[in-house]
Amino acid sequence: MDRSEAVLRELKLHPQWVRRNQPAPVLAEQPALITAEAEARVPAAAVISMHPAPPLAPGEACPEPCRRVEEPAQAEINDIHAGSSVAVPASQADKLNWPELKQRVHDCIACKLRAGCTQTVFGVGDEQAEWLFVGEGPGVDEDAQGEPFVGQAGKLLDNMLLSIKLRRGKNVYIANIVKCRPPNNRVPEADEIATCMPYLQRQIELIKPKLIVALGKTAATALLGRDAALGSLRGTLHDYHGIPLVVTYHPAYLLRSPMEKAKAWQDLCFAVRARHGEA
Ligand code: URA
Repeated sequence: MDRSEAVLRELKLHPQWVRRNQPAPVLAEQPALITAEAEARVPAAAVISMHPAPPLAPGEACPEPCRRVEEPAQAEINDIHAGSSVAVPASQADKLNWPELKQRVHDCIACKLRAGCTQTVFGVGDEQAEWLFVGEGPGVDEDAQGEPFVGQAGKLLDNMLLSIKLRRGKNVYIANIVKCRPPNNRVPEADEIATCMPYLQRQIELIKPKLIVALGKTAATALLGRDAALGSLRGTLHDYHGIPLVVTYHPAYLLRSPMEKAKAWQDLCFAVRARHGEA
C-alpha cells in the first residue's frame, strides 16, 4: 500500500472511485501544481467525491443541510441573548487582533440572525494560511458544532481539498460570509451580509491569504461586490483587495448536482495554477 492510499484509508476515503478505462488519480506527496495532462486525465467525480450523491427526486428529502433541513423547534432556540451582549457594529472590526475579533463575533447581535441560531461560527484553520475558502453561512451541523463545513458539504469540501493536496487546518482557512445560521438555511439577506462582512474582511486582513476560493454565488457576490451568474465568474482570476480570487460551485450544490463536479475539478485546477502564478 503506498502512502497516499494509506492516507485515504485513514480518512475513510478509500477505495477511490475511478471510471473504467481511466488511470487512477495520482496523489503525489509534494507538488501541488496540477498539469494540464493531469487535469484532463483525472475524472472529477473520482477525485472529489468518494460518495457521490444522486440527484434528488422531486419531494425527496435532502441528505445535506443545504436549504431544506427542518428548523429546530422554536423551544430549542434558547433565549440566548438574555442580558448577554451589547450590540457593537461589526463595522468597528478593522483594528481588532485575533482574540478581540473572535470575542467580537462571539458577542455579536448586530443583525437578526443571531436570535435564531445556536452559536456564532467564526471560522477554522491555519491563521497564516495561503488558501482561504469562503462559503455562505453555517448550516444545521455547523450551528450545532460551531465550525464551518462539518456536514455533508463539509465532507465534500474536505475531499475537494484533498484532491489538490490540501487539508483543513494545514495552510487552509475556512470561513463563511455570515457567521450565524440563517433560519431554515435560507440564503442570507443583503443587510445581514453587509452587517457581517467586516468580520470576514478583518479575518482576511489578518490571514493575508495568497488565494481566496469563493464557494458558490453568495460568497462570490459578496466578495466581488457584484451580482453575476456563477458560471460567468468561473475560470477568471478575480481580485479581492489585491488578493487573487477564484470562484467555484458550493459543495452543497455539487451534492445536489453531481454532474457539475467535473467543472468544480476544473476550477480547483485553475485555482492551483493561480496559486502558482500560472493562471
Ligand atoms: N455551507 C456553507 O456555506 N458554510 C458552511 O459552513 C456549511 C455549509
